[in-house]
Amino acid sequence: MTRLIITGGDVLQGEVRISGAKNAALPILAAALLTEDKVTLTNVPHLNDITTMMELIGGFGVRFLIDEHMGVEMDSKNIHCFTAPYELVKTMRASVLVLGPLLARFGEADVSLPGGCAIGSRPVDLHIMGVEALGAQVTIEDGYIRARVKGRLKGADITIDKVSVTGTENLIMAAVLAEGVTILRNAAREPEVVDLVNFLNQLGAQITGAGTEVITIEGVERLHGGSYRIMPDRIEAGTYLAAAACTRGKVKLKKVAPETMTAILNKFEETGAHLRIDKDTIELDMRGNRPRAIDIDTAPYPEFPTDMQAQVVAMNSIAQGIGKVTETIFENRFMHVYEMQRMGANIKVNGNVAICEGIDYLTGAPVMATDLRASASLVLAGLVAKGTTVVDRIYHIDRGYECIEEKLSLLGAKIRREPY
Ligand code: UD1
Repeated sequence: MTRLIITGGDVLQGEVRISGAKNAALPILAAALLTEDKVTLTNVPHLNDITTMMELIGGFGVRFLIDEHMGVEMDSKNIHCFTAPYELVKTMRASVLVLGPLLARFGEADVSLPGGCAIGSRPVDLHIMGVEALGAQVTIEDGYIRARVKGRLKGADITIDKVSVTGTENLIMAAVLAEGVTILRNAAREPEVVDLVNFLNQLGAQITGAGTEVITIEGVERLHGGSYRIMPDRIEAGTYLAAAACTRGKVKLKKVAPETMTAILNKFEETGAHLRIDKDTIELDMRGNRPRAIDIDTAPYPEFPTDMQAQVVAMNSIAQGIGKVTETIFENRFMHVYEMQRMGANIKVNGNVAICEGIDYLTGAPVMATDLRASASLVLAGLVAKGTTVVDRIYHIDRGYECIEEKLSLLGAKIRREPY
């Protein structure tokens, strides 16, 4: 096991390069199962979740060639297994993304049900409902979703009851090789969905409407190979902006996509930060000032993302004034609050609302990460705490942040990883 040791109090300054988006790379890796030709992906982040997805589809028979910059060449010609086992799905729920592509190309998929997770129940009923609407026979047996179809799936008009990011992605991938036209209504509008669609269209898919509530997929008989560069990670970018804002610093992000971050950037402006936004860079400068507390309500894109909620709570904990954070996506996503309270934060949780009165500084303490974004927020809390903070269970952070301690160290933070 390893943990992060952080000595707080430094002002972050400098430049940081943002990695490729985990939540775009995962569905795109799964989507490469849809073609028997070679696919080359660049800007793939080096993360545990990506390794898990590669292990999963490698088990189906996908061959990989990886270069020193995490350029990934994939060959999905010889697939011999259609089962996503519990051991992998339980470590990463996004494994369910293989359901759509396996079913579309091979007419067969057995995917373990993921079960609950630290941030709530997270069902996959919408994924199942969608593939059934496309003509698959689905049974739940021994904890597995067993989906079958004879011949091709059939296009359908599907309304997705609740906006779901991976649900939308799974159904796009299922529909891409279906017979006829599929219309997905109430589709997720996240930029990562758009990235997946851009990738699929590059391989010959016929998809329109990505980024809107209605996505239309005209089924094609086959996809060909191609190359694609994964979009920048807007959540990693937002996390480094929060780190800069918390520490009253000045940080420039490079290789970002500011147009995917409007809700996040608007909120940082409310903290009093000075932002300079260019085509693929964002600079945030606090000019030495403490941030002002902000109110956020998480909601599907284009609203404020739930994956930035914990980082805002960390920022509010040392901000000027009172900030109200309302979580509307996941039922149990305040575990970080209880750890921050142990660092002295003045936060009250009532249902899905966390009200935080900013204090001058937090106090270092041993804390435990419970999920990916919670662990990032505890690192931020450590950066603004007096004394030493030890963040345990950091395997969560390695699922989603590439080289976090190296990147923060380069910005001037005192942070190191320690095995124990
Ligand atoms: C994706 C992101 C995750 C982010 C989340 C919300 C990936 C790999 N992960 O997760 O980082 O926090 O979007 O932006 O892209 N729901 C159902 N039934 C379903 C599916 C979802 O009720 O079949 C509910 C969920 O419990 C949740 C809401 O819908 O309350 C949104 O979840 P969803 O968008 O599906 O999250 P993920 O795609 O799993």
